[in-house]
Amino acid sequence: MATTKARSRRKTTKGTQDALALLKADHTKVQGLFDQFEKARSDSRKLSLAREICMELTVHTTIEEEIFYPAAREAIDDSDLLDEAAIEHQSAKELIAQINEGSPEDDKWSARVTVLGEYIKHHVKEEQNELFPEVREADLDLKALGQRLLARKQELMSEYKEHLNGSAGRTRSARSSSMTGSSAHI
Ligand SMILES: [Fe+2]
Ligand SMILES: [Fe+2]
Repeated sequence: MATTKARSRRKTTKGTQDALALLKADHTKVQGLFDQFEKARSDSRKLSLAREICMELTVHTTIEEEIFYPAAREAIDDSDLLDEAAIEHQSAKELIAQINEGSPEDDKWSARVTVLGEYIKHHVKEEQNELFPEVREADLDLKALGQRLLARKQELMSEYKEHLNGSAGRTRSARSSSMTGSSAHI
């Protein structure tokens, strides 16, 4: 009996990342994509990496804004930090929209991706060095929060991909004015 219980407990938590581990894994992944972008030579490779970066960041910022930041705001006594994070997201989204609307042939397009990378590096540093330690100390069920983040992330990823596939036959301007636009909250 005890063995069965132990096994089922393992099963429910197996593979479940806590909220902070999940968000950190996203940060690491996107940093890797920015590094690949800086090394990329061909325009087609740059474009596909930039598209992936924009998708990852759109989904990541959305799950933080919908789930993680509100939970953190309730749990920690540092609303300034969360206000700053939200403003930084807003600026990042403006660059993401410009990158999605453009292409490597456009003037300053690559520079926008590079600046977005530097911007995100700064934002991630603040989250991981300041916000996450405060959240770690707070009274929050980080496993449960991680499950909510993961479920929403999977949902948003498939919506984003569906939307991109649905837009494949349309013109670039039509595509950029939809979910990948500046006010996009997919
Ligand atoms: Fe963030
Ligand atoms: Fe983040």
